[in-house]
Amino acid sequence: MNTDSELQDHYSRGDLLARLRTALAEDGADPDHPTPDSLAPYDHFHGRGLEATLETARLMPARAGQRILDIGSGLGGPARYVANRFRCHVTGIDLTPEYCELAQHLTRLQKLEDRTSFQQGDALAMPFEAQAFDGAYSMNVSMNIEHKAALYREMHRVLKPGGWLVLSEVSRGEGGDIDYPTAWADSARTSFLSTPEETRQGLLDAGFEVLRFRSTLEKTRAFGDRSRAMVKRGEKPPHRAVMLIHGEKARAVMANTIRGFADGRIVPIEVLCRKPEPAA
Ligand SMILES: C[S@@+](CC[C@H](N)C(=O)[O-])C[C@H]1O[C@@H](n2cnc3c(N)ncnc32)[C@H](O)[C@@H]1O
Repeated sequence: MNTDSELQDHYSRGDLLARLRTALAEDGADPDHPTPDSLAPYDHFHGRGLEATLETARLMPARAGQRILDIGSGLGGPARYVANRFRCHVTGIDLTPEYCELAQHLTRLQKLEDRTSFQQGDALAMPFEAQAFDGAYSMNVSMNIEHKAALYREMHRVLKPGGWLVLSEVSRGEGGDIDYPTAWADSARTSFLSTPEETRQGLLDAGFEVLRFRSTLEKTRAFGDRSRAMVKRGEKPPHRAVMLIHGEKARAVMANTIRGFADGRIVPIEVLCRKPEPAA
């Protein structure tokens, strides 16, 4: 099996829309008219869910009317949030066809087709002209991509001079290999974590200026503590995308991820970069 088909195996379910409808109905929400709030536990498919999207969006110097790219857009929760918040247009691209179809479907249900659109594609060879976007972001995607230099080059290519790039990523900390499965990979064959320093250097090598770079490990641990306390009280945790997507595997995924954060083998980071304007 090659890496792409292993990734498809990991992410695709084939029945995700049906599972989402069931989850929404169990929450007391209307599956035919889902609101951003009712979808938020499911359609922000990254560590800390909506909380991380809100924080990542605060790093974005986005303005109304801009064209923004979401690289690895998943089920589209972040793209719809960013489009609404900044009154801009967000294009999402993702490798997994099922996610693109579901993202587009949820966008239609929320009547946001004029603000967000999704298409299937590879972040390493994006079907966009050079300098097509004012800004781009990517949340929890690069850990599936081995060739980071090619990824950063491609991100740089599609941005206008002066354009911004925001990353919310998972990086490799100290203390050795991580345990599988995780939310992003069933095995080390599809998991490619860089250290924070390698990430920073890769972005610089691609031609970006790195303006902000921070670890969110403490926030992630605190979010995990709060979520576990809610579960103990018999409440649903705020972030349920892993359960929705990974089903029976979710318990092992969560246990491995919590251990990785607890002992610092997995370190989430947030980065703001800029593609410099050419010298006058
Ligand atoms: C953990 S999910 C994050 C989804 C979304 N960014 C979010 O935060 O809700 C990782 C996503 O990366 C996508 N992905 C992985 N490798 C990719 C590639 N080479 N090109 C485009 N998307 C990719 C997967 O299909 C999956 O949707």
